[in-house]
Amino acid sequence: MKASAPILLREFVEQLHTLFTEHLRDDERWERIAALLPSLLNSPDLHASAKAWPEHAAGERPRNLLFYEDPVYRFVINGLIKKPHEGTPVHDHAHTWTVSGLMEGEERVVLYRRADDGSQPDFARLETLEDRRVGPGHVDVIAPYVIHEEHAGDRRTVSIIVRSERTGSFPQNMFHVISGKVTQAPGAGQFPYNLE
Ligand SMILES: [Fe+2]
Repeated sequence: MKASAPILLREFVEQLHTLFTEHLRDDERWERIAALLPSLLNSPDLHASAKAWPEHAAGERPRNLLFYEDPVYRFVINGLIKKPHEGTPVHDHAHTWTVSGLMEGEERVVLYRRADDGSQPDFARLETLEDRRVGPGHVDVIAPYVIHEEHAGDRRTVSIIVRSERTGSFPQNMFHVISGKVTQAPGAGQFPYNLE
């Protein structure tokens, strides 16, 4: 992966560099990143580019296409395509911050909170906090350990995601809502993709 940002992301990455040099709390920084994301979600050039992004094969999980990894601040920019009716398990992103924006299609996004006292590491009772249908332009900030799931509607969806670091190398929690069981698994792998 090249250290310099692809042209389509260059201005956005420069804005993120500015945010990472400012003295901000993490929640403030990631809210500011969320406020910048519509510049990508509305980019005609990125919409055109997305037509050529590779889709995963039948039976595979959706792929985090890795467009850029910052050599200094470690954040990554991903594209993610879900086929119609594909979704995620109920999960968290461990200690990392995520801003996820929908560029194409409609999704159902469900946020949960733990209704138990957290004293058992392999058990959680969850309560639904929010259950929403969202469309193009919608942006979520997913703070560390926020429990959530997303499901595509009748058409494929395309998301642009900024993460505080690449996923796939550390365990994330997976929640089995009916049994209450909690397991750990590495998060989604990263697939380098050249946006130029
Ligand atoms: Fe997630």
